[in-house]
Amino acid sequence: MPNMIIKGLGRYIPEKIYDNAYFESIVDTNDEWITRRTGIKERHIAADDEYTTDLAVNAAKSAIEDAGIAPEDLDLVLLATVSPDYFTPCCACIVQDKIGAVNAAAFDFNAACSSFITGMIMAEQFIKNGTYKNVLLVCADALSKVTDYKDRATCVLFGDAAGAVVLSADDNGGKMLAYELGADGSGAMNITSLAVRDDAEELEKRVSGRKETIWMAGQQVMKFAVKTMADATGRVLEKAGLTYDDIKLIVPHQANYRIVDSALARMGVGKDKAMLTLEKYGNTSSSCVPIALKEAIEAGMVKRGDKVVVVGFGGGLTWAAAVFEY
Ligand code: UT7
Repeated sequence: MPNMIIKGLGRYIPEKIYDNAYFESIVDTNDEWITRRTGIKERHIAADDEYTTDLAVNAAKSAIEDAGIAPEDLDLVLLATVSPDYFTPCCACIVQDKIGAVNAAAFDFNAACSSFITGMIMAEQFIKNGTYKNVLLVCADALSKVTDYKDRATCVLFGDAAGAVVLSADDNGGKMLAYELGADGSGAMNITSLAVRDDAEELEKRVSGRKETIWMAGQQVMKFAVKTMADATGRVLEKAGLTYDDIKLIVPHQANYRIVDSALARMGVGKDKAMLTLEKYGNTSSSCVPIALKEAIEAGMVKRGDKVVVVGFGGGLTWAAAVFEY
């Protein structure tokens, strides 16, 4: 059975920046509150005419170039988003066309902020059983299009970005070592963005009254996040027969530095073990992990052969954790 390696990584960060001073000008908040409660200083925001598939195409092209393959070599395009351009067609098909992946199947999936790790695990099933050789996994969100800029509790958190990886069958390098996927649908309504249902109670929560905007029960999500990230990481390490000392870097979902700090404390590992990018990008949903991983590799923090943990949680509620050799 062939192993799956990360052959190339790409990212796309839009140019426009909303800093904390910008939010002071639109809602009742301040830099001190945002920094102390979240660790976020800046988020990048898509242009008015820039949507999720535009971010995705840029990240996908950069991952394909990094992998040194041709778009025609791709067998599958998997795309994760919670802010699709359309209900249908799916974003993956638009990206497949725009990058010229003419031989690839394509579909979207949604495990919210857990999607990157979920996508890696899905790709590995196709690669391990010999169905596909090269899978492009793209995580893209233009969350600014579904952010309620009248709700101070959520608008300061989110940014726009895309991350992408080419995952390939390759027996000369790294591999997935262990993973876990989980869901707790009893917490489903703790993070919501409404589609066709007109739930009056849900609509009332939106300060702006716009149904598609994200509403979140922050405290409940935070408690869920700390417990699941720490405990799922512990379980995948145990499955792989590894300890935290064997791990070069933990790349967690970047929602809030307090969540990461508390999760690390629960794991019993130091803060220097985790890669954090949330200060400059905020929470960009599923692209947080691939972007942080790409930046860790660029900074020389992860080299081929190192063991890395990726772990996330998000809407659904969902969680996912994996340990792999890069
Ligand atoms: O990607 C996955 C999904 N998202 C997350 O993982 C986010 C998880 N949750 C969080 O990160 C945190 O819950 C938040 C950062 C969203 C909020 O932090 P918190 O410590 O849970 O604050 P809180 O919701 O308990 O609110 C504390 C106070 C409230 O005022 P009162 O009731 O104490 O007077 C809020 O109204 O802070 C107020 N508040 C703000 N004040 C200034 C809420 N947002 C703001 C704000 N500026 N932007």
